[in-house]
Amino acid sequence: MIEKIQRLLKEIKKIEIKNSEELESFRLQYLSRKGVVSQLFDEFKKFPGIEKKDVGKPLNLLKQELEKIFNSKKENFDLEKNSQLTQNIDSSLPVYKNLPASTHPLKAVENKLIDIFYSLGFDYSEGPEIEDDHHNFGALNFEEDHPARDMQDTFFVGDYVLRTHTSSVQIREMEKKNPPYRLIMPGRVYRNEAVSSRSNCFFHQIEGLYVDKGVTFADLKQTLYYFVQQFFGEGTEVRFRASYFPFTEPSAEMDIWIGTESEDTKRLSKGTGWLEVLGCGMVHPNVLKSCSIDPDIYTGYAFGIGMDRITMLKYGINDIRTLFQNDIRMLQQFQGL
Ligand code: DAH
Repeated sequence: MIEKIQRLLKEIKKIEIKNSEELESFRLQYLSRKGVVSQLFDEFKKFPGIEKKDVGKPLNLLKQELEKIFNSKKENFDLEKNSQLTQNIDSSLPVYKNLPASTHPLKAVENKLIDIFYSLGFDYSEGPEIEDDHHNFGALNFEEDHPARDMQDTFFVGDYVLRTHTSSVQIREMEKKNPPYRLIMPGRVYRNEAVSSRSNCFFHQIEGLYVDKGVTFADLKQTLYYFVQQFFGEGTEVRFRASYFPFTEPSAEMDIWIGTESEDTKRLSKGTGWLEVLGCGMVHPNVLKSCSIDPDIYTGYAFGIGMDRITMLKYGINDIRTLFQNDIRMLQQFQGL
């Protein structure tokens, strides 16, 4: 048996293995369960104790040599296979880009507005989207039978409402501490409205509030004028129209001139060239009183800007619903904002 092993040891050194098929038949012949090594071990088991020592050593050596050959060849063939795989890569094929995140156009507009009003000394605040009647209506001087309090216009959640405007945050802030306040308060608001290209059941506003001694309507106009020049560009024309809100007196709406040249601006402005972008006014004395502020000492102005509207205007978006569909083809267009 020892001779047989010695012969095999010499023999295997001469074996040439050229590819993985040959390697496999090598493995089957020598190292598999029915292969040469296995058979030799079976024979070896039958040897008497003393002889085992002499046979065991070369037998183990043979096994190790065979495994060494097998492993080193296998490694070579695996490497070759991998490099063939990489050679087969067609680097001219188009790649799927790993798209970076981008800022939603509404958020970009909000950030821009925050920057503009920060530069005028405004601070930032937020309030809850689920409100009680007091903050959304009562303290804002809405009459008990005001139509906005109707189920048809407002979403109710038990005894609460989904806030219909960000003006509720004015009340929350004025209840917290004494004037002066100079705040902007952005957020989402909800109305029970039919969804169309121009109106949605939720949208976004940014509320402004400035209360101090001696604040006038002239301050309001100048602030809003400044905002328009910064946001829409120098030279943008504005006009104020008298309006009505329960929480301001006097009240106004501000339009900007978008012209009547294109079909889009004609449609948006219903042919007039003017587009309403915000409501505003001097804070009603009753509102100040409901927050324990003396209207004989303090005056203030407030405004509420429709953010979806100015976003659509700024980026030429003609259907409000596209802002909320999360269609990546739409959002991609705002990369880098
Ligand atoms: N809350 C009003 C709305 O949702 C907008 C508004 C008008 C806000 C006048 C104000 C304001 O602060 O003074 O239509």
